[in-house]
Amino acid sequence: MSKLQELMTVVSQREVACNIYELVVKGDLVQEMKLPGQFLHLAVPQSSMLLRRPISISSWDKATSTCSLLYRIGDETTGTYALSKLTQGEMVDVMGPLGNGFPISEVTQKDHVLLVGGGIGVPPLYELAKQLEEKDCQMTVLLGFATENVKILEAQFARINNVTLRVATDDGSYGYKGHVGMLMEELALEPTAVYTCGAPGMLKAVARKYDHIERLYISMESRMACGIGACYACVEHDRKDPNHALKVCEDGPVFLGKQIAL
Ligand SMILES: Cc1cc2nc3c(=O)[nH]c(=O)nc-3n(C[C@H](O)[C@H](O)[C@H](O)COP(=O)(O)OP(=O)(O)OC[C@H]3O[C@@H](n4cnc5c(N)ncnc54)[C@H](O)[C@@H]3O)c2cc1C
Ligand code: FES
Repeated sequence: MSKLQELMTVVSQREVACNIYELVVKGDLVQEMKLPGQFLHLAVPQSSMLLRRPISISSWDKATSTCSLLYRIGDETTGTYALSKLTQGEMVDVMGPLGNGFPISEVTQKDHVLLVGGGIGVPPLYELAKQLEEKDCQMTVLLGFATENVKILEAQFARINNVTLRVATDDGSYGYKGHVGMLMEELALEPTAVYTCGAPGMLKAVARKYDHIERLYISMESRMACGIGACYACVEHDRKDPNHALKVCEDGPVFLGKQIAL
């Protein structure tokens, strides 16, 4: 039976980059995870903060019923800061897995897939790359960060087969100097499918360059409340019908490029 809410157990938590934490949790919900790009809605362990925090699933392991989340914390008044204080063995109230993730069923060995990720949009692309590895397709992965201190998951992507990986930092402290859109503009290849997650400016650049590609998948972010499609806090305009609202939590967070107006 599908579970939607669970008290999951914290397996580990550590700071993996400046103000970015990796939280590993264990519970039955992991067995319900289907597509990379789905998210969990985490209750903040502080009663004054009622709204849950949506965080993408970075990777999962069904054999151990564990999954990993990477998230950036705010100052001490924020819910993410309170979440970062959770330690091994504590419980965290989780809803999920929620939303529609990145479709991968059509990918075959013949594809050359491009993944473009920026900052704290990179984590869901990691589970995606792990699953695409099993399809035996070629992958080019472009990751952009503000600076080296906030670079995440590079070593994990580098371990995946058939991946050509390039990393950019805005200030040039690591890898290519410039934003990830510049790296993308320099690409010589024509991908057959594109998957992206990151800041709105980066998503716009990817959408502009690859608008002609049918399998262009864009993961969106929005302020959320209910997380399950009931409150309409997270709406985006439908590109085909501006009067129609798309809900990021329920219809997304991943949309086809042609569905959304960026
Ligand atoms: C589908 C989805 C997946 C996400 N995945 C990740 C991830 O993997 N890693 C990560 O670091 N962040 C992710 N985010 C952003 C993350 O949810 C916000 O950074 C976080 O909620 C901010 O909470 P806070 O406690 O730090 O801030 P506060 O200032 O305490 O938040 C106040 C309220 O604003 C909301 N809010 C603030 N900033 C954002 C934001 N950028 N997006 C949505 N709601 C926001 C909070 O959820 C909360 O309800 C994701 C957002 C969405 C919608
Ligand atoms: S957050 Fe309530 S409808 Fe999306």
